[in-house]
Amino acid sequence: MNEEKKEHLWWQNGIFYQIYPRSYQDSNSDGVGDLNGIIKRLDHLKWLGISAVWISPIYPSPMADFGYDISDYTGIHPLFGSMNDFDKLLEEIHVRDMKLILDLVPNHTSDQHPWFQESKSSRDNPKRDWYIWHDAKPDGSEPNNWLASFGGSAWEWDEQTQQYYYHAFLKEQPDLNWRNPEVQKAMMDVMRFWLDKGVDGFRVDVMWHMIKDNQFRDNPINPDYESHMATYDQLLPVYSTDQPEVHEIVRMMREVLDSYDERMMIGEIYLPIQKLVTYYGVDNKGAHLPFNFMLISTPWEAKKLASAIDQYEGALPEEGWPNWVLSNHDQPRITSRVGMSQARVAAMLLLTLRGTPTIYYGDEIGMRDVPIPFDEVQDPQGLNMPDKNLSRDPARTPMQWDNTDNGGFTDAKPWLRLADNFRRENVKVQKEDTFSMLSLYKRLIELRQQEPSLHVGDYSPIYSDNQMLAFTRHAKGHQQYMVVLNLSHRPCYFKPKHFSFKGTVVLATFPEREGTVYSNTISLGGDEGILLRLDD
Ligand code: NOJ
Repeated sequence: MNEEKKEHLWWQNGIFYQIYPRSYQDSNSDGVGDLNGIIKRLDHLKWLGISAVWISPIYPSPMADFGYDISDYTGIHPLFGSMNDFDKLLEEIHVRDMKLILDLVPNHTSDQHPWFQESKSSRDNPKRDWYIWHDAKPDGSEPNNWLASFGGSAWEWDEQTQQYYYHAFLKEQPDLNWRNPEVQKAMMDVMRFWLDKGVDGFRVDVMWHMIKDNQFRDNPINPDYESHMATYDQLLPVYSTDQPEVHEIVRMMREVLDSYDERMMIGEIYLPIQKLVTYYGVDNKGAHLPFNFMLISTPWEAKKLASAIDQYEGALPEEGWPNWVLSNHDQPRITSRVGMSQARVAAMLLLTLRGTPTIYYGDEIGMRDVPIPFDEVQDPQGLNMPDKNLSRDPARTPMQWDNTDNGGFTDAKPWLRLADNFRRENVKVQKEDTFSMLSLYKRLIELRQQEPSLHVGDYSPIYSDNQMLAFTRHAKGHQQYMVVLNLSHRPCYFKPKHFSFKGTVVLATFPEREGTVYSNTISLGGDEGILLRLDD
């Protein structure tokens, strides 16, 4: 083991991969992916060079929000398999020297969870205060103006006990009251349950939502709201999210993790960068990786991306480890946002930046958002705001494995239709094609993992303009690399004034380029990205 490997932990060195379990691999012919299906595909992940797998929720759930409405935190939904299947999955992942990250959804439960059933049964039930109950205003209206992410008010009236309860998402997802120590303890016990089993960490759902203003003040209006946006965006959620007390909760969760060996937590947090970095916590005792969604939220323009990357690097606390994401199950896929040619450039960016990359399943073969006919929409966000095109189904379609029926995903009717082109675009076909997206991902990962400069080295910006951006990566005592990306469709020259270089192209989005030696000037084709090993 070399010096760098010793200093950095697995969640810093490695590559993460998100699986949306409904859509990865069906093993029991019900059209929905499951745990045994994932086991069947672990060799693909190992081959690709993945170090850790994050699986979206697999717990018992009425599926109002496809598993993000949990009715039992320590069970497995029969749709996905049994606890034995889970144990086997964990073992098979560990046998392959990979890690397993579970999705933890502590902010809200399902309305079918026994905790909520008890809480709503009467005002004096011992669990009443486990959720956020509030009297109506004198005129009977909601306690304040807070909105639900999936449309409408965040308050739901309970006829029986004559109070409102708060739900940041669907009314079937009541928010827990994290100011209550019993709730805190119950969720820490949930964490321990899975950690005791050997799970390597958690991706914590909507971490910045967990504590709300204790005065329940109205949120201010968003002066930049436009009608195409989700109704939730009419207000700025300054009182319903990101409250200072949340950091104490995150610290407590971290303490649980730290009482085990080398476990970790990624926080799902959609906040501006200066706020995001506070989730690393005081002395880095918060989330190991507050998810950084800048490559999703920043317009795909060279200058803006270069600036965003540098702002992030500059905002990180000392010892705060960076991370990067291009897509996830809530967002349009990278190929659909920037196009197929730029998606290759994006892959190079994701896998050469400093910090842990998370790959969303299917991005490695350039899967695109799939158009879902109106009457097949399943996502509540799409169904509740039908005129806004906000359904997340297009980015959640079944994985395209091969050119057999349903892409090898299932031999039944898939729960969501596949892309029409799955017979052409799939893992099997792309594995055999050196020019495919899959080959590009595989080679980028391989090189990144071989070269300390790429997986743990320093990042230095070199140049950016309207078309391109360039940076170097360097770990002491190792060869330096330079990444030059053309974010436009037109050719351009890379001729930095204050940086002279000589190097060989070792990887390129157009592999024909590889092996070429350049010094000080490079002419790049449109949509081209190159990675050079620099001479000393
Ligand atoms: C964030 C999850 O990523 C999303 O899929 C879900 O709908 C909400 N949290 C509510 O749990």
